[in-house]
Amino acid sequence: MPSLDDFAPDAHLSPVVAAAYDKSHASNFDAAVIEATVSFLADLADDGPVIEFAVGTGRVALPLSQRVGPMYGIDFSEPMLDELRAKDEAGQVRITHGDMTTTLVCGDASLVYLVYNTIQNLRTQAQQVACFRNAAAHLAPGGAFVIETMVPELRKLAPGERIVPFDVSPTHLGFDEYVDVVNQILVSHHYHIDGERVRVSSPSFRYVWPSELDLMAELAGMRLEHRWADWDRSDFTGESSSQVAVWRKL
Ligand SMILES: C[S@@+](CC[C@H](N)C(=O)[O-])C[C@H]1O[C@@H](n2cnc3c(N)ncnc32)[C@H](O)[C@@H]1O
Repeated sequence: MPSLDDFAPDAHLSPVVAAAYDKSHASNFDAAVIEATVSFLADLADDGPVIEFAVGTGRVALPLSQRVGPMYGIDFSEPMLDELRAKDEAGQVRITHGDMTTTLVCGDASLVYLVYNTIQNLRTQAQQVACFRNAAAHLAPGGAFVIETMVPELRKLAPGERIVPFDVSPTHLGFDEYVDVVNQILVSHHYHIDGERVRVSSPSFRYVWPSELDLMAELAGMRLEHRWADWDRSDFTGESSSQVAVWRKL
């Protein structure tokens, strides 16, 4: 197993990356994407508190808090949280600087969610299991834990190949390199193009299988309620490249 010391620190800890985040991920700030995400999550929010793990700059939490009221956000990057604070003049998102595998802000939540592939930022299986256990610790019985994440695309690889392009556009080139299929590590190579300038980053992730997520949920005392392919509740099939899964605390 790789140790945590084998990996570069999460790129979002950098003030430069944090300041560029909203612009670099503009397609995920698209109004239609946000509306689909927020209405799905708002449907699951009940009377208890709502918490976003790895809240970042508030892409989802800020619009969701307009629907469900003040909510909590946890993130371990102060620069990302500074960006969120600057946008949240009304203080709708109660911020906690901490690690989503260990930081506990309440024990009676109706909804905890972790979006945009971020379960994979935890680069060992043990950390991913700890994240599920921490989500369960926040939830009241019957509460929901939601994860949005990609499905590993190893089926796209021809024998001997290790690179899958996932975005080829005038302003961004992205390639996933499956560098370690034993420990399930991939490196996402990004080339952000701005005129003559190119910003390059190559963060690493631990990709995770849908059935493995369900087992992590079982270990944490939660059970799968449903798995969709996307926020629009389209069917999840063997061809789906992404998933939105909901587990309930028993
Ligand atoms: C891709 S961004 C997603 C931000 C936001 N959820 C969104 O959808 O735009 C990943 C975020 O995860 C945070 N993060 C990564 N590992 C974390 C951990 N162990 N605990 C808390 N935050 C973490 C990073 O600081 C970063 O803000």
